[in-house]
Amino acid sequence: MIAIVSLAPFVASPPEVVRRMLELAQVNENDVVCDMGCGDGRILIMAVGEFGAKKAIGYEIRKDLYKTTLENVMMRNLSDRVVVYNKDCMNADLSEVTVITLYLTTSGNERLRPKFEKEARPGTRIVSHDFSISGWRASRIERFGGHTIYLYVVPEAYEHRLSKGRGERRGIRSFWSWRGL
Ligand SMILES: C[S@@+](CC[C@H](N)C(=O)[O-])C[C@H]1O[C@@H](n2cnc3c(N)ncnc32)[C@H](O)[C@@H]1O
Repeated sequence: MIAIVSLAPFVASPPEVVRRMLELAQVNENDVVCDMGCGDGRILIMAVGEFGAKKAIGYEIRKDLYKTTLENVMMRNLSDRVVVYNKDCMNADLSEVTVITLYLTTSGNERLRPKFEKEARPGTRIVSHDFSISGWRASRIERFGGHTIYLYVVPEAYEHRLSKGRGERRGIRSFWSWRGL
């Protein structure tokens, strides 16, 4: 049996930080948002309730927080669009996910990085509160009120490493040009 590793203690992102994370990722009705370590479910709830995301998926290892998230989601009648698992986010299913949110630690992000490189869909936006993903290039870094938010786009964030020696990027459209920005 593989032991579950805690990637971070519970500290909630303030609502204004959550809102800015979702704005930077341009969350909209076509998105499936996944919070890796969802705490009390606040990112999931705002993604669906305020930004109109099609679906939000949360993974949370702490049973008490998992139950809190379920209650918070039910209280707001969002159960049809929010799914929560009391499971290790290292085993998250990313097959339908288009936006990933993180508020973990540097080492937590490092543990997840190979999974993202292998499993995240091209075009997936990853927003991380306060902790960068080492070795990746952020598309945006925003600082406000003592917080930092990093935005990464798959695979642009790490293709500089993959294409080292190949000289140029091939066949991968920029996320920003794809979004018409
Ligand atoms: C810093 S809190 C962030 C909570 C929420 N995402 C937010 O921004 O408000 C990190 C959460 O990740 C959870 N966590 C840590 N390791 C985890 C793992 N391997 N799988 C799922 N959840 C995990 C913790 O229990 C904690 O609730």
